[in-house]
Amino acid sequence: FQVPHPKNEPVLSYAPGSKERAALKKALEEARAQELDIPMYIGAEEVRTGDKKRLSPPHDHKHTLGHFHEGDAGHVEQAINAALGAKESWANLGWEHRAAIFLKAADLLAGPYRYKINAATMLGQSKSPFQAEIDSACELIDFLRFNVYFMTQIYQEQPESSPGVWNRMEYRPLEGFTFAVTPFNFTAIAGNLPASMALMGNTVVWKAAHTQIYAAHVIMQVFKAAGLPDGVINLIYTDGPTTGDVVFNHPDFAGLHFTGSTKVFRTMWKTIGQNIEKYKSYPRIVGETGGKDFVMVHRSAHAREVATALSRGAFEYQGQKCSAASRAYIPSNLWEDVKKYLQEDLKTFKMGGTEDFGNFINAVIDERAFNTITGYIEQARKNPMNEIIAGGKYDKSKGYFVEPTIIVSKDPSSVTMCEEIFGPVLTIYVYHEDNFEETLELVDSTSPYALTGSIFSQDRYAIELAAKKLSNAAGNFYINDKPTGAVVGQQPFGGARGSGTNDKAGAKVNLLRWASMRTIKETF
Ligand code: SER
Repeated sequence: FQVPHPKNEPVLSYAPGSKERAALKKALEEARAQELDIPMYIGAEEVRTGDKKRLSPPHDHKHTLGHFHEGDAGHVEQAINAALGAKESWANLGWEHRAAIFLKAADLLAGPYRYKINAATMLGQSKSPFQAEIDSACELIDFLRFNVYFMTQIYQEQPESSPGVWNRMEYRPLEGFTFAVTPFNFTAIAGNLPASMALMGNTVVWKAAHTQIYAAHVIMQVFKAAGLPDGVINLIYTDGPTTGDVVFNHPDFAGLHFTGSTKVFRTMWKTIGQNIEKYKSYPRIVGETGGKDFVMVHRSAHAREVATALSRGAFEYQGQKCSAASRAYIPSNLWEDVKKYLQEDLKTFKMGGTEDFGNFINAVIDERAFNTITGYIEQARKNPMNEIIAGGKYDKSKGYFVEPTIIVSKDPSSVTMCEEIFGPVLTIYVYHEDNFEETLELVDSTSPYALTGSIFSQDRYAIELAAKKLSNAAGNFYINDKPTGAVVGQQPFGGARGSGTNDKAGAKVNLLRWASMRTIKETF
């Protein structure tokens, strides 16, 4: 059985005068004019609890996009029951039927829903048109199509047989229900976590981040339009601890697919550990968590390339990517040039909301994030070892805007050099150009995370040394490129240490976590 080898979905440019730009503008106008009333989706029901919470764009927080209906512990229970109720028919449905649904969902996103989902991501999460396009359109479409392809490859992996013996492997879903917890920063991840588990025959309780509900709602509409049966994916908006209490105390809890903070993931893991005797099976736990991603530069690198990688890698989507460059190590011989180019680049970055497609920097996700990020900036400002060479200002009167900020620190273990900030803040340490090897050790030991990282060098020996010394420092390691923007099927994504279980998103290994295999030996 074969499905066509997928190609990555081409990125639309939304260039001035293009019909795509006009269509996206129209979708944004329609989205702003409507009054959203977003239900939870549990089984066949659209659940409106009446406990309505307001949705507003982070870049224009006085504007109301509409409301969503928040649920409580009872709704979590209902969602679990819906998932368990749908399980048998879904698990027994031939793989090609499950594949067809998600391939159709990908086509719907590539076609009629493209502008709608991009508009939801732009308004709900304050993305620029380009950042929305590479996320909620291309990456999500790619996840859906590549997962189907990888699933069929997995199913074809069969053991050897011998005369009189036919061995075979059955890829069953996990027994029970699975749980997806998704973040605000990527619509693609929000769609992929529940979809990848469902594709492998599991049924899912999906808890979306409260700051991403608009796009999650559109994803659910797409899945429904593609023919996803009721109860296979149940989307709920409930608070974290309440949801965890119900889910992790249930004997049929079978797997967690998580993207979010290291702290929350560790708390969940501990709770699961404490409850381990309650479960029928050992739950599968897959998580992608924090990062403090580095850019390490060798004296042989090109200053202009380094500056471009930093200004894009650190500040695209306001630095709210787990892959964002947030600490850089620049050799003294290149520093003056890199600094000049960085300051030039930042002057060209326009800041503002979605109304102007030329804006590169939009708002950060909410007031809490704004306070955390600006707190880090103020803390850095007070440290005499630091100099803020760009940005450093912020304003939340209309939206949660923080200028792209660059701190140069003489202390390689200063707070902003070590801790995850999840905002538009880059800290740079300038090292003596002769101390490349010692600085590699610093890169490796400075942070507890290991998600992404880059080495910039024109010297092959330096590249090799960096690759060796930093072999555990990044699950995605980039040579002469920025550490963001992994493409499904090309750079499977994920990291280890404090950054996650490294079960690469958009890869076979991830799908295998959602299968419980049965080996069958038949003798003739
Ligand atoms: N996959 C994204 C990137 O590479 C982060 O989640 O930027």
